[in-house]
Amino acid sequence: MISGRDAASAQACAAEIGGSTRGIGLDLAEPNTIAEKLAEIGEVEFLVLAAIERDTNTVKNYDIAAAMPLVTLKIVGFTEVIHALLPRLGDDSAVLIYGGLARDRPYPGSTTVTTVNGAVTGLVRTLVVELAPRRVNALHPAIVGDSPQWRDMPKERFDALVARTPIARLVTMAEVVEASRFLLENGAINGINLPVDGGWLCM
Ligand SMILES: NC(=O)c1ccc[n+]([C@@H]2O[C@H](COP(=O)([O-])OP(=O)(O)OC[C@H]3O[C@@H](n4cnc5c(N)ncnc54)[C@H](OP(=O)(O)O)[C@@H]3O)[C@@H](O)[C@H]2O)c1
Repeated sequence: MISGRDAASAQACAAEIGGSTRGIGLDLAEPNTIAEKLAEIGEVEFLVLAAIERDTNTVKNYDIAAAMPLVTLKIVGFTEVIHALLPRLGDDSAVLIYGGLARDRPYPGSTTVTTVNGAVTGLVRTLVVELAPRRVNALHPAIVGDSPQWRDMPKERFDALVARTPIARLVTMAEVVEASRFLLENGAINGINLPVDGGWLCM
């Protein structure tokens, strides 16, 4: 089951993936509507909370209207999805939350992104306790070079990022997927905030 704000778009993506994949529409920035939208979902083995609605914000020129959807989505929206699905999560199920290394490395305009990705760390900590024996982990990618968000960034910025990454390239979407599977499937991994960054944090 995959989701996005627009049901038709989510269904088109599900058709592209194929098999038994289905798509539903729900807006994580409208938390009061989430439970109803998830009503048709059955038992859940793995739950991945990966959405983001980025803003560009600074505290000097703070745009409250721009900050609200992202803050709501990642903090209240993610938590409400878990709350709504709780009776359908088995003891062996696992939750994976996407943060990001803007948590540790702010960039110009990342005020809200940095804040909410920091909050993901706190969310993992409380959920590990509250949801036990189910497992909860988070993944914090550095800039994912081939992701739609960044693949067309100016060459100057790209080169500067590569120069600060020990593996001498940016991490890829495939590597993020592989790390996600590890966090979801390994029954011993719980309460981890895993950077997927090619060693960026060491620099
Ligand atoms: N890309 C990177 O380099 C990078 C780096 C660090 C961390 N991350 C983290 O990785 C995750 C995915 O990032 P990404 O780059 O793949 O993002 P993206 O390409 O911008 O995709 C965002 C996704 O979130 C969905 N979404 C946006 N607003 C929503 C809402 N209000 N309700 C429900 N769904 C909503 C979008 O679907 P619809 O448009 O169909 O609603 C889309 O599928 C994020 O949590 C991000 O913080 C990414």
